Amino acid sequence: MKKIANRIKDVEFSALLKVGEVIAKLKQAGSEVLAFNIGEPDFNTPQHIIKTAQQALQDGFTHYTASRGIPELREAVAKISKDENKIPCGPENVIITPTKFGLYSAIQATIDPGDEVMVPDPGWVSYEPMIKLAEGKPVNVPTHNEDEFRMLPENVMEALTHRSKMIIINTPSNPTGTVFTKDDIKGLADIANDHDLLVLADEIYEKIIYEGEHYSIAAEDGMFERTITVNGFSKAYAMTGWRLGWVVAPKDILDQVAKLQQHSITCCTSFAQKGGVAALTESSGCIDDMVNEFKARRDLVVDGLNEIDRLSCFRPKGAFYAFFRFDFEMTSEQFTNYVLEKGKVVLTPGSAFGKCGEGFVRFSYAAAQDKLEKGLKILAEVVAQI
Ligand SMILES: Cc1ncc(COP(=O)(O)O)c(C=O)c1O
Repeated sequence: MKKIANRIKDVEFSALLKVGEVIAKLKQAGSEVLAFNIGEPDFNTPQHIIKTAQQALQDGFTHYTASRGIPELREAVAKISKDENKIPCGPENVIITPTKFGLYSAIQATIDPGDEVMVPDPGWVSYEPMIKLAEGKPVNVPTHNEDEFRMLPENVMEALTHRSKMIIINTPSNPTGTVFTKDDIKGLADIANDHDLLVLADEIYEKIIYEGEHYSIAAEDGMFERTITVNGFSKAYAMTGWRLGWVVAPKDILDQVAKLQQHSITCCTSFAQKGGVAALTESSGCIDDMVNEFKARRDLVVDGLNEIDRLSCFRPKGAFYAFFRFDFEMTSEQFTNYVLEKGKVVLTPGSAFGKCGEGFVRFSYAAAQDKLEKGLKILAEVVAQI
C-alpha cells in the first residue's frame, strides 16, 4: 500500500527544528550549550496581555469564536493596518489566524499547480514547502550581501516568466535582518501592477526596526487588490506560543482563506484572541523597551563579529538576526557543525535559507547580553583554530 501522498513526501523536515534535537542531546549529555539559532524573542509576554487572557478564561470565554476571529480583534487589526500601515482596509478584510497558517492558507487559496511563486533567496525556510504543498513552483530571486540582501526589483524582473503568479516579500527579513527601502517597495509594486501578480507580504518583524521605516506594499497605488498581508503577535509582543496572527486581504481572496480556516482549525484559541486585543490596544511603551534592548544586542553582536578575523557582517536594520560572512574553505554547514562541536555554540548555516545563503551564517541575538558576549568570545576562540 502506498501510504504517503506525493504532495508531502518530498517536503523536507524543517532544518531549524532538526537542530533542536541535536541541542537536546548535547544538553542531556551534560554539555553547556549556547544557542543562537532561536527564532523567537527571549522576553516573556507582557503582563497586561497575560492578565487579559487569564481574565477571559475566568469569565468562561472558553468556547468556539466566530471563525474569522472575535469582532473586537478584527477591528483592532483593521485600525492599526489602516492608521499605521496605510492599508485601505476594514474589519471585513481581516481574518485572525496563526501567522504561519495564514501564510499557508494564503498560498493554498491562490496558487494552482504549476504557478510560479518568487521567493527571496536567502529566505525563510517555510515558503518553499508551502508553495510545494500547493503544487506550485518556487522560483528563487537571488539577493546579495553587497545590497544587504534586499530583494531588488531588477532581480525580480530576471526571475519573471509567463507562469509567475506571486511574489513573496519579507521585510524586515528572516534570516538577514534587512529592511527594504521605500524605493524597493515601490519598484516591487510596479512590477506586480505591470505584470498582474499577487504579492504575499510577510510583515511579522514589522515592529522590530532600528533604523529606517517599515512600508507596507499593500498601501501602494493599485496594490491592495493584489496583496495579502500577513502579520502577527509572535515577534512584536513576545507571543510565539499563543499561535496568533492575522491576514489582511481583499474580500475575494479573504473569503477563500476563511474557507480553509473553517474546514481546518475552525478559529484561533478564544482567550488568546482576548489577549491579542490587549496587545494591540494597550501596549504603548512595551514594544519600544524590547526594540531598544534588541538594538543594543545587535550592536554588540555585529561589532563582536566584525572584530573576529575573517568574519564580516553588515549592520542589519531590523528583526533579531545577524547574517555574517566567513572567509574559510568550508560550507556554511561545515562551519556551523565545527563551531557546535568545538565550542558548543549553535548557529544556523546560511545554506538552510537558500543557495545565496551559502558562505553565510545566521546568528540570532534573541538572547541576553552576557550570553551573547560569552558566545562571541567562544566563537572568536574556535574560529582562530581553523
Ligand atoms: C519570516 C517569518 N514569517 C513567519 C513566521 C511565523 O510566525 P508565527 O510563529 O507567528 O506563526 C516566522 C517565524 O519564525 C518568520 O520568521
